[in-house]
Order: sequence, then structure tokens, then C-alpha cells
Amino acid sequence: MDRKTDVVPRRSLLFAPALRPDRFAKALHSGADIVCLDLEDAIAMARKDEARAMALPAFAAPAEGGAARVLRVNSLRSLESLKDMVALSEGAAAPEALMLPKVTSPEEVAWVDDLLSEIAAPTALMVIIETARGLEAAPEIATASPRLVALLFGAADLSAEFGASMAWEAMLYGRSRTVQAAATAGLDVLDVPHLDLEDDAGLRRAAQQAQQLGFTGKAAIHPKQLPAIHEAFSPTAETIAWARRVVDAFDADPDGLLVLDGKLVEMPVVRAMRRALAIADLLDNG
Ligand code: GLV
Ligand code: MG
Repeated sequence: MDRKTDVVPRRSLLFAPALRPDRFAKALHSGADIVCLDLEDAIAMARKDEARAMALPAFAAPAEGGAARVLRVNSLRSLESLKDMVALSEGAAAPEALMLPKVTSPEEVAWVDDLLSEIAAPTALMVIIETARGLEAAPEIATASPRLVALLFGAADLSAEFGASMAWEAMLYGRSRTVQAAATAGLDVLDVPHLDLEDDAGLRRAAQQAQQLGFTGKAAIHPKQLPAIHEAFSPTAETIAWARRVVDAFDADPDGLLVLDGKLVEMPVVRAMRRALAIADLLDNG
């Protein structure tokens, strides 16, 4: 189906811990498409209040660097998330999006949607699929709110809950189901960060595999991971050239059967190529 969200590049999402505003400021200029300040797993329980107090002013500063600014709140099934939501309701500026971790049901997403509507925040939502129940309910979660723009696949938490390894094969079912749920709902979908910062070859391989599976991007924990991720998720020159031919031929004769180089080109391909061109244009002009 067509993506419901505006076409914007969501190739990369760089995490920064909420206790390190300096890293957030750097991340905004790193070239990442999205920067996510983390109140959840990067922050020890004892320092959540401090992190919250440091995080929220970051969203009041004028936008700079071009990246979308996102806040990862705590699990909606925890007291800390209530504190997060109250702080947001009292804060001057809302993040562009909230990232909701460890979601287990569509009701959790609908609940946050209601709270955001109550405080009239234009905030979008991203959900991490990283629990066994969340994976089971992924199709319903993906359509739980019109604010949703993307899913993330959280292999670290999911593999721990499954008692499985984080290897590609072990997490393939979870990834595929998350991609399917996102595609059905017309959302973007980003893969888990590659946790080994020194393993550039492994990162490149994982990013390419995720791209081939249908992911639109991959998260990162360090700016040095961005070039490999951007390379995997940006349309190649070859794709752009082919996309231009497909779209031009279709627009010249929208009612005809589209055959290029002897191959029939179906409508979903035309839509995907239109999207690739739109992303390529945005990247060119960004
Ligand atoms: C991300 O949050 C993960 O658990 O992989
Ligand atoms: Mg997680």
C-alpha cells in the first residue's frame, strides 16, 4: 500500500542519552535523518528525574541541523512513563515525535494519542516492536493511531525475551513480521542499531540485509555508523535512473500497460519508484 506518512527520508535514527545534551547537539549536525534523545534504557533508574529535566529544554531550542527531534520515553507500563507524560504536558515545546518502547498492545498507543490530543501537541509517534506480545499484536499496533509514522524493530529486547540469540537468522521472523505490519499500515520501519561499534563490515552487511528485507532505515548509536547506513538506504544512481524511466513512461500513458525493456511494470512498482524519486530529490536538496 502507499505510505500514509509524508515522504521524508527516515534512513537513520541516531540515539543520544538524555544526560548528554552535548551529544544531542552534535547529533543534530551529524547528518542523521532523525535524532532521538533517550530517557529509557540509556538512563539508570536513579537518574531518570535528572535526565527528564535535562532532556525537555532540548526541544525548546530552535531546530538546527535538519534532523527530526524525537524523545524516547519510558515503557508505558511503568511509573516513569507517567512522569514523562506529565513533564511533557508541562513543557514548553513538544518533540516532533515520541518513541514508545516495549509496547505490548494497540491500547497503549491509543492512550498516548489521547494524552497528546488533550495537550494539543502535534507530536508524531514511533513504536518499538521488541516484546513477544508486541510482535504478536504488531499489525494492530501499527494502525492504532494516525500519529504513527514509523515502527522500530528492537532485537536487543526481543532476543532477551525469547531467550534467543541476536543473530540475523534468529531474529528474521521478528524482523519480517515488523516489516509486514509497517507495510500494511503504510509506515516507515527502522532496524535495531548495530551494537558493535568497531565492526564496520558487520554493520554494512546488516544494513544491506535490512534494506533488502524492506526496512526503510536503521538506528545508530554513534555518528560513525551513519555513512554505512546512509549508503544502504539511499536510492542508488541506478535505481534513480530506472525510477525516472518508469515514472515518465507511466505519466505519458497512465491507462496503458507499462512495458519497459520487455518487462511488465506493475502499479506497486510505479508507486515504489515514485517514492524513490521523491526521497532522492529530498536528499539532493537537503
Ligand atoms: C532497542 O530498543 C532494542 O531493544 O533492540
Ligand atoms: Mg529496547
